[in-house]
Amino acid sequence: MGALNLKGRDVLSLADFSAEEIKLILDTSLELKRGVSRGEFQDHVLRSKAAAMIFETPSSRTRMSFWRAMQQLGGDAQDLSGGKIWSDSGVESWGDTVRVMARYFDVIIARLLAQSTLQEAADLAGIPVLNASTDFEHPFQALADFQTVQEKKGSFDNTKYVLTWAYHEYNPPMGLVTSSLYLASRLDNFQFVLACPEEYTPPQDILDRANAFASASGASVEVVHDMKKAAKDADFINAYSYVMPADFRAGLEHDWQAPVPHNQNPEPFKKWIVDDEIMALAKPSAKFMHCMPAAVGHEVTAEVMYGPQSIIMDEAENRLHVQKAVLALLLGA
Ligand code: CP
Repeated sequence: MGALNLKGRDVLSLADFSAEEIKLILDTSLELKRGVSRGEFQDHVLRSKAAAMIFETPSSRTRMSFWRAMQQLGGDAQDLSGGKIWSDSGVESWGDTVRVMARYFDVIIARLLAQSTLQEAADLAGIPVLNASTDFEHPFQALADFQTVQEKKGSFDNTKYVLTWAYHEYNPPMGLVTSSLYLASRLDNFQFVLACPEEYTPPQDILDRANAFASASGASVEVVHDMKKAAKDADFINAYSYVMPADFRAGLEHDWQAPVPHNQNPEPFKKWIVDDEIMALAKPSAKFMHCMPAAVGHEVTAEVMYGPQSIIMDEAENRLHVQKAVLALLLGA
């Protein structure tokens, strides 16, 4: 693989990966997925390897899919979340916990409130640290989403992909937005449109970085503040509710309802729902996506979420395949 050897790398941000490396991950994922359909699980690849998993906030898909990914490749995963380790109660520092984990495990998979805490782990661990979602990034969800796009459309070429903010009572992190911007902006002839209320425009440094990637690749990146305008002639509409990083971090203290614009004054934000009218503006072949968990009735209507254009379950399944691909590329024999 030469220059494309990913052995030992951290996965903290998709900005750290080149277009060729992202392509390698997605190609490997498709290859592994095809293997599974033939009953081939590659269970020698991670034999005797083990992952430490830490989730600072709830997770269904990420927790299950990383565990199955390790297991299908012949490895093991231990979920250390929920008060099992001393750093949870402040008896031991996060840094000491990370250094000890690195003596027992081969990879650390962490869902943390703050990207800075993840970076601290990566700086200290000496083994790969994988981002299972933070305030700033959700790389594996973006990889799974774009694998799903590639599968459904056949290629990324000439594709209009809309990621739209959607109303939700709670305060999810904006990680999927950042990671999607960094991935989409590497794809030639790919049109990425983020639709969001002005209050939820991503930080300028993230947009500048994505635009710099797009200038080099031939992708286009646009932010609009009108879901209907964005939906026109789209190939994919992906709904996702999020808040700014600091509000997400503060959410834990407010039962996930930090005082953000859409909680303080919900009415203007409730129109941000993907319904049949929005889907009708897209191409007739358009697909609906959501990384889940979805607030059905707020972010998306039940008709769209469970309708014929929805590909949410294929999207969820692809979490497993992209994570297997990355684990195999980072740790495999
Ligand atoms: N999409 C996603 O990350 O799901 P979980 O929060 O259930 O892991």
